[in-house]
Amino acid sequence: MAENKEFFEVESADDSPGFSLWQVSSMWQRQINASLKQFDLTHPQFVLLASLTWLVHDQNPITQAELAFHTKMDVMNASNVLRTMEDKGLILRNPHPTDTRAKSLVVTARGLKLAGQAVRVVEGIDRAFFNSLGTDVSSFNQQLLKLIRENTPSPHSQQVLSPLIRREAPGDITAIHQVNAFAFNGEAEANLVDQLRTRGAGLLSLVAEVDGQVVGQIYFSPVSIISGDGLITPAVGLAPLAVLPAFQNRGIGSSLVRAGLDELRRMGHKLVFVLGHAGYYPRFGFNPSLPYGIRWEFEVDEAHFMVAELQPGALAGVQGLVRYQPEFNGV
Ligand SMILES: CC(C)(COP(=O)(O)OP(=O)(O)OC[C@H]1O[C@@H](n2cnc3c(N)ncnc32)[C@H](O)[C@@H]1OP(=O)(O)O)[C@@H](O)C(=O)NCCC(=O)NCCS
Repeated sequence: MAENKEFFEVESADDSPGFSLWQVSSMWQRQINASLKQFDLTHPQFVLLASLTWLVHDQNPITQAELAFHTKMDVMNASNVLRTMEDKGLILRNPHPTDTRAKSLVVTARGLKLAGQAVRVVEGIDRAFFNSLGTDVSSFNQQLLKLIRENTPSPHSQQVLSPLIRREAPGDITAIHQVNAFAFNGEAEANLVDQLRTRGAGLLSLVAEVDGQVVGQIYFSPVSIISGDGLITPAVGLAPLAVLPAFQNRGIGSSLVRAGLDELRRMGHKLVFVLGHAGYYPRFGFNPSLPYGIRWEFEVDEAHFMVAELQPGALAGVQGLVRYQPEFNGV
């Protein structure tokens, strides 16, 4: 069977870091699992319980998606384990304070007591397990951290989430306000959406939901293109678009833009304008509008004011100044 070795680059199994890591983690997990039996905890339950106990000191509230990201567990897997932990009375999944549809995680008094006991035992196992490395344990840990850093999806390729995109519902209003306030680090856009909604001046509001939590929103309102001879062409303005900072760079903004443009096309709209990042919107079909003879009514850097056709040829013969709803004048 020696010829099968041709498949492998390594001379010996001992030369494979992946296989060594597999063996070490199997042995380590076996010891941890054995020690956790006395607490009726599995290893994933312990990791989630210990991490949640740790995180609630820094940040409150913690959602399932945030906890999963911290532990590098798959969101669905973490969600299933957390459900079992709730059944065991170790955690509570409470309504989120700012998002009526999301759950925030809280450790119960029983969970906290168990976490304290289990952490002590697990730290003891770790000390004994890594003891043979002596002072090298710190550089070993640095090497692990390097692997974690370099294999954690970068902002450009971070674990892409598949949010549920749906129309805004009455119960989302507070969460939408928060999303805009956090994303823009101020109240202006959050208030703008509230004012447009109050006046019934919006056209389409979509939210992105992850694990029951509203984490992003896109808003569209009617605009007019007014030509030199007073001809008015109706169009749509995209603003604002916001994704909670903790969820940015994971495809949520893109999902919202694409779903919004699809929905507007279905509704029969032909042109959409945006004042936004020149490096972001062209991927959705937006181009600077000035070369078409269309500018915003206010002075802006021409690269940032863009237009997308929802129907081919929709820009033909259209020129002029774009006027948004009056609420935009104050932003
Ligand atoms: C801009 C925003 C909505 C994007 O949402 P998101 O979910 O993070 O975006 P996605 O994951 O779909 O796309 C990530 C891409 O957006 C780019 N991006 C994010 N912020 C950007 C910015 N300020 N300028 C240019 N590009 C930006 C990222 O570089 C990344 O580019 P890549 O795909 O080439 O790597 C989000 O970052 C946000 O809420 N920002 C604060 C509020 C804001 O600026 N809103 C837009 C006003 S026009």
